[in-house]
Amino acid sequence: MSQPNQFKEHWLRPLLFFGNNTISLIGGALTSASAILLIGFWVIDTIGHGGSNNPYLGLVLTFALPALFVVGLLLIPVGIFLRRSELKKAGKIPSVFPQIDLRDPIFRHGIDFVLVATFLNVVIVGTASYRAVDHMDSAEFCGATCHVAMGPEWTAYKVSSHSHVPCVSCHIGSGVQSFVEAKVNGTKQLVEVALNTFPRPIESPVKNLRPARDICEGCHTPAKFIGEKLIVKTSYSDDEKNSSTRTLVLLHLGGRDSLSHLTGIHGVHLGHIEYVSSDEKRQTISMVSKRNEDGSFTDFVSSDAKNPTVGARRVMDCIDCHNRASHTFQDPGEALNRAMAEGAPSASLPFIHKKGMELIKGTYKTQAEAADKITSGLNDFYRTSYPAVYSSERAYVDQAAKALVAIYSTNVFPEMGVTWGLHPNNVGHTTSTGCFRCHDGSHMDKKGNAITQDCSTCHNLLAVDDVNPKLLVDLGIK
Ligand code: HEC
Ligand code: HEC
Ligand code: HEC
Ligand code: HEC
Ligand code: HEC
Repeated sequence: MSQPNQFKEHWLRPLLFFGNNTISLIGGALTSASAILLIGFWVIDTIGHGGSNNPYLGLVLTFALPALFVVGLLLIPVGIFLRRSELKKAGKIPSVFPQIDLRDPIFRHGIDFVLVATFLNVVIVGTASYRAVDHMDSAEFCGATCHVAMGPEWTAYKVSSHSHVPCVSCHIGSGVQSFVEAKVNGTKQLVEVALNTFPRPIESPVKNLRPARDICEGCHTPAKFIGEKLIVKTSYSDDEKNSSTRTLVLLHLGGRDSLSHLTGIHGVHLGHIEYVSSDEKRQTISMVSKRNEDGSFTDFVSSDAKNPTVGARRVMDCIDCHNRASHTFQDPGEALNRAMAEGAPSASLPFIHKKGMELIKGTYKTQAEAADKITSGLNDFYRTSYPAVYSSERAYVDQAAKALVAIYSTNVFPEMGVTWGLHPNNVGHTTSTGCFRCHDGSHMDKKGNAITQDCSTCHNLLAVDDVNPKLLVDLGIK
């Protein structure tokens, strides 16, 4: 007998005999049904007419269907095993399995079909696993599928300069090790999401974030930012007219100059500064250690710290300043000023700055409640205090209400415990401690020299809260 036929004789006969049971047959049906659906979906997806961005559909197609497929596949041997033990217990296993006639061409082709199907199954499971892993790497999966858990970060990410950078570029990166670590971690988090036990808010800083050198410097070269950056800010007051002022700051961003010297904000911190923080959020810095060019260290110790060397030690990198890269949650004042400078809420509405601040800083249980109360609160205010404005400028009131709701719902997520100020931004020092965690004038070396707080080392203040800075007129900036 030839090899294939021997195989068919010795293996297939018992297999077919035991395989003829309800569980295995259901398994077979499940497997083939999900296989057909999956292949159909992949073909449509490849041709490009899939067209659905629904993250839940993605979840069904990438995880549920393949899972069903595998379950079906597993049911087949389970059924065979059960039937075999059942028959064995009853002593009904035949000594000779029913004859199958290999000379019958229909039957022979049927068996060839089973062999081909098995091969196809391997291909399908392989492709499905690959696609599932690939899907888990997409921003939609990270951000939108875990809708509740990642809501705040996803919302901030979508409006950031990094909205086209996949989450994994910063959170996982390349290499087998980080891949495996991420999948292990990710699976744990998936389970937490499924069981609804994930932390609220999600902890920050991210402990296992890869070094900024690996993630940020793949796209940004700090040494390339040479020179100055002009920042123009508009602020509004709480008076009826919402009077505005301008502040102009020329930041000495620096970088590497033509003689290869590192200068300015970007130039002086990277690679040779370590610090110890006494809190989880790295907001209270008790000691800063700087490696000098001759290899010696200068330690700057905070005069407020009791045990300055106790705590997590960290080499300063991009993320110590840009801790909110891609997920910037604003300060309420800053957010409202920026929105008003862009035209909505319109500064033509009396007291809109004062009233708007009051509404966005209110306490609400959900974003939906906030949207309702902010909208009705603003309408009530104008209806009762400024009826004439309310009737003639109704469109502006509606627009202002929408803008206030947008400010609230991109920054505050009561369901996730993300409130104003939960995630301070370390770039700057006006809305959070930021640079002044070290540059506060009280981090001293042994000789009594402090890390500088001299305003002009970081920037030239070209105008501070000036009603109409002449410089803006000269520069032609409105
Ligand atoms: C350009 C880089 C970058 C990208 C892209 C990015 N993140 Fe982040 N992410 C960060 C940084 C930096 C932090 C803060 C790390 C720290 O302080 O340790 C962070 C923190 C987080 C946190 C912790 C909670 C918090 O708010 O600090 C979550 C959750 C998160 N990111 C989810 C996502 C998701 C989901 C995506 C994709 C939709 C994404 N991130 C894309 C850089 C990025
Ligand atoms: C895959 C490429 C990529 C990676 C990785 C990346 N960025 Fe960016 N980054 C960009 C692009 C593109 C822009 C937008 C540039 C523009 O709008 O001119 C940008 C803009 C920025 C800006 C200026 C705008 C803003 O949001 O303030 C900062 C700061 C920044 N990135 C910091 C970081 C940091 C810190 C990291 C590492 C955590 C990082 N980036 C990782 C591509 C990247
Ligand atoms: C000591 C704090 C600090 C560190 C460390 C730092 N930055 Fe910055 N960075 C700043 C400040 C301040 C600005 C200007 C902020 C603004 O525009 O409001 C800035 C601006 C930027 C910008 C925008 C530049 C532009 O033209 O608008 C990018 C991109 C950027 N940083 C990337 C990085 C990367 C990548 C690293 C790490 C290699 C890094 N930064 C390290 C403080 C820092
Ligand atoms: C973890 C501590 C730490 C933080 C946070 C920090 N710095 Fe520094 N910075 C230092 C140290 C240390 C030096 C070097 C001081 C020295 O050599 O005397 C320095 C030096 C500087 C210098 C050069 C000063 C000079 O005399 O030439 C500038 C400019 C500067 N920092 C800007 C910033 C800005 C802007 C931020 C916030 C975005 C910031 N730093 C955040 C620790 C810090
Ligand atoms: C260690 C560096 C550093 C020092 C020292 C420093 N600043 Fe700043 N300051 C910054 C940075 C960075 C920003 C820009 C923040 C941003 O991009 O929004 C800023 C912004 C400002 C602004 C703009 C206001 C705003 O709404 O953001 C004012 C005003 C200001 N600084 C005042 C001062 C004064 C006054 C001093 C001296 C007592 C001082 N700063 C010292 C780094 C510094």
